Amino acid sequence: MDIKKIPRVFLKRFSPARKESRLLKAVLKGPVPLHIAIIMDGNGRWAKRRGLPRQFGHKAGIDTIRNVVKWADEIGVKILTLYAFSTENWRRPRLEVDFLMRLPVDYLETELEKLLKNNIKLQVFGETDGLPDHTREAVCEATEKTAKNSGLVLNLAFNYGSRAEILKAVREIAQKVAEGVLSPEGVDEEEFCRHLYTGGLPDPDLMIRPSGELRISNFLLWQMAYAEFWFSNTLWPDFSRREFLQAVLDYQQRDRRFGGIKF
Ligand code: FPP
Repeated sequence: MDIKKIPRVFLKRFSPARKESRLLKAVLKGPVPLHIAIIMDGNGRWAKRRGLPRQFGHKAGIDTIRNVVKWADEIGVKILTLYAFSTENWRRPRLEVDFLMRLPVDYLETELEKLLKNNIKLQVFGETDGLPDHTREAVCEATEKTAKNSGLVLNLAFNYGSRAEILKAVREIAQKVAEGVLSPEGVDEEEFCRHLYTGGLPDPDLMIRPSGELRISNFLLWQMAYAEFWFSNTLWPDFSRREFLQAVLDYQQRDRRFGGIKF
């Protein structure tokens, strides 16, 4: 069929922009997840498919970060947690690790002003002490400068591993018990949560993982006990607003029972 023969009005109705605006309308009618967690995956494959070094994929992934922060804020998400560098990622080639360690510096150089302007509070989950000076200084400066912001909370999980986080909590609690500040009976879920990086934040409602991998890779194991999972085959640099909205819409159609039943 010759596309030129299709009336313009008809084409417009089915255009991607129209589809997105319909999705947005639908999403805004339902309960928006308070906390979304995302495993940003597929940067390496994205670059490889283009015959480029893996670093190009990570760089392109930064643009998606900029966008997803905007899309989350736009629909009223309160907390966005992005898995950017895991404790296991140190096993990658030195060149790639060095590049990944520069990314927060570059991102914050261009983005800090925008975070401040948009009232976004940046936090880092993970062992910041284990980061090179330039990376640690950049993230610490940004967390301090945005600490008083009251809008979207943007958590970057960087040098993060959930098992390490759980062990850290256990060690801190054991110390309290040993010092007699806390009794073994006082070790309940609330106390435990206080020692996680997520601190007083509510657990993620929705976890998104693009790139076709169907696992959670040591990410927020305790906190995702009741999260809804959403997977897609898109590689992170190609992750779009339409897909983000679709994930939220699908989430809204899930029946969350938290182990109970509905009458
Ligand atoms: C996984 O893709 C991605 C990462 C290990 C790094 C993700 C980091 C960013 C998107 C940027 C971080 C930026 C800031 C500001 C903290 P992969 O490399 O494992 O992809 P593959 O599975 O295709 O190889």
